[in-house]
Amino acid sequence: MNDLDQLVQAAQADFGVATSPAELENAKARYLGKAGRVTELLKGLAALAPEEKKARGAEINATKQRVEAALQARRQALADAELEAQLKAESLDVTLPGRARGVGGLHPVSRTLERIEQIFGSMGFDVADGPEIETDWMSFTALNNPENHPARSMQDTFYVDMKDAEGRWLNLRPHTSPMQVRYARMHAAKYAGQEHMPEIRVIAPGRTYRVDSDATHSPMFHQCEGLWIGENVSFKDLKSVFIDFFRTFFETDDLQLRFRPSFFPFTEPSAEVDIAFNSGPLKGRWLEVAGSGQVHPNVVRNFGLDPEKYIGFAFGMGPDRLTMLRYGVNDLRLFFDGDLRFLSQFKS
Ligand code: DAH
Repeated sequence: MNDLDQLVQAAQADFGVATSPAELENAKARYLGKAGRVTELLKGLAALAPEEKKARGAEINATKQRVEAALQARRQALADAELEAQLKAESLDVTLPGRARGVGGLHPVSRTLERIEQIFGSMGFDVADGPEIETDWMSFTALNNPENHPARSMQDTFYVDMKDAEGRWLNLRPHTSPMQVRYARMHAAKYAGQEHMPEIRVIAPGRTYRVDSDATHSPMFHQCEGLWIGENVSFKDLKSVFIDFFRTFFETDDLQLRFRPSFFPFTEPSAEVDIAFNSGPLKGRWLEVAGSGQVHPNVVRNFGLDPEKYIGFAFGMGPDRLTMLRYGVNDLRLFFDGDLRFLSQFKS
């Protein structure tokens, strides 16, 4: 083995014991640096005769290349080891399933509410929104349901021992009917003193609350109020609105509608609205879908309107119930449990 082979061997050994990139750079300097062994050899060439210089020069250059190759190999080995250590330390398990971006969808009841708004919107109804914490006056008194009257128990709400800043008792609204009063009063005030008042045509969907809980009742549920007031609005109009609505909502003309006499303090006469499908799984069964009636003169007065001049109808229906019928769901509580196995079936 000549001196150059020994030099390469020594470099390989030196590089081999370097355990970090910094140590390796120090070792490199000992061979390839300004005063390194290979550099010294190259400098020594100057003293040689031209012929000798050529042969020795070629050998030294070959040696330099071998030293550089050894350096490069060790650099690579150190980098590989570092990556290996990092991978171990971070213990990333690439075989785990990825976290997919879940695609959400509208809640089935929200779908129904959108549908109701869209259908009534096409019939010229405005859509109004109002407070869920309501005053006793709006929830009951204004709707011809006097304080301490037993008819208040028809909408058994959560009473709370709380008054608003003006000393009015508050409750969680047991129905959306107070929205009739809120909307109509606003409308009446807007056109007060004017010769002509456009008709009031509005629906008010939203959350309502009652002390009730079983497969078909939830303490929080939805209602959609409707109100149509004008100078010449009758039960005939109510019937045609309902027929159009239910046929469009259930996408079938093959259903019947009936009014069944009933009682509500805020309407006179009052009626429950039932529908029956002429085909399908619910064929022939009368299903109650809404309460309705001609708005009581006392309520029209509370709207700020003259009951001798203005007349019309109101209704309240249950979007939760409509959703159950439309999708064939038999337990209302499923809507509010938040179970994705149920909800994701309505995604598309
Ligand atoms: N508010 C009634 C309820 O919750 C439903 C209702 C019946 C609303 C008749 C109306 C109506 O507007 O005219 O039971």
